[in-house]
Amino acid sequence: MDSLPDQLILRQPDDWHVHLRDGAMLHAVLGSTARVFRRAIVMPNLRPPITSVEAAKTYRDQILAALPDGVPFTPLMTAYLNESLAPDVLEQGHQQHVFIAAKLYPAHATTNSEQGVSDLRAINSLLETMEKIGMPLLVHGEVSDVDIDIFDREAFFIEHHLAPLIGRYPNLRVVMEHITTQEAVQFVETGGPNLAATITPHHLHINRNAMFLGGFRSDFYCLPVAKRERHRLSLRRAATSGKPCFFLGTDSAPHPRSAKESACSCGGIFNAHYAMESYAEVFEQEGALDRLEAFSSEYGPAFYGLPLNNTSIKLIRRAHVVPATFSGQTNADSSEHLVPFHAGELLGWSVSVD
Ligand code: DOR
Ligand code: ZN
Repeated sequence: MDSLPDQLILRQPDDWHVHLRDGAMLHAVLGSTARVFRRAIVMPNLRPPITSVEAAKTYRDQILAALPDGVPFTPLMTAYLNESLAPDVLEQGHQQHVFIAAKLYPAHATTNSEQGVSDLRAINSLLETMEKIGMPLLVHGEVSDVDIDIFDREAFFIEHHLAPLIGRYPNLRVVMEHITTQEAVQFVETGGPNLAATITPHHLHINRNAMFLGGFRSDFYCLPVAKRERHRLSLRRAATSGKPCFFLGTDSAPHPRSAKESACSCGGIFNAHYAMESYAEVFEQEGALDRLEAFSSEYGPAFYGLPLNNTSIKLIRRAHVVPATFSGQTNADSSEHLVPFHAGELLGWSVSVD
């Protein structure tokens, strides 16, 4: 058997799906993403959501101003689709290289999605424009209908909404974000070159039992929720398959403690700080370390038509315990610390940052 490598030099990765928030939270979490990832697709579900070119530029400036000194990082901005958005806004944002993509949140499907889309037919003109200008549609692929079992909402969305939508706009480029089911894996791998999916570290590590281990564990609650074990295994096979339609997107989604621990806990897992270490663990367990670079650093840019990064990162085989809390403070009150994904667990790889 080949001996296992002690270090990996990888082309610098990008995160094709992240929530950087704004204000104090942005300052607390941005460094975790920018220390490893060269670019990131930044989600627009702020309060209020990003629905104009001006708002996206202002948000981009806030991110750039919050970067630690000397850290090169490019935020790639997205528009938040809703029924009252004018197609011109997407065209202008595209021409000005501000909007790289637009995000579809079915209304009420997740955090800050209240102003999302209630009726997909009502955004036909936006989808036509996106198809015409080649702007990718990023999809939160779940229905929000409370009559549909929460564990079936992704599969239901694919069958009843996404497949028909793709049928209507065959040239639209679509990324199914943070897929969680075998149905999504199959749909994406047979969907042709205009369809891709991002896969998060947490959906590769946990199944739905993690949320209920000895009590309700809101730190493992995210949307779409983790599913049964067979789905997790299907996602692990997809991520490590070497198929270009599956690439990295952390969906790192920090919430203050008070929001995670409330009676109505917010969905979201903060995984940015150890994301590459987390993916490396999975790829090693699956015997696919040689495919980690393409998943992390090549298939995403290829889908978005962007150049590959020419910088690199080093992963070293050095075990470390993930701290119970993240040191970046979200405000002066220490009760508002963040709990990182893998808190208290041993990870076998460390990113070496020079
Ligand atoms: O778990 C999630 N958190 N899923 C989402 O779709 C949104 C995100 C957030 O913004 O907190
Ligand atoms: Zn997200």
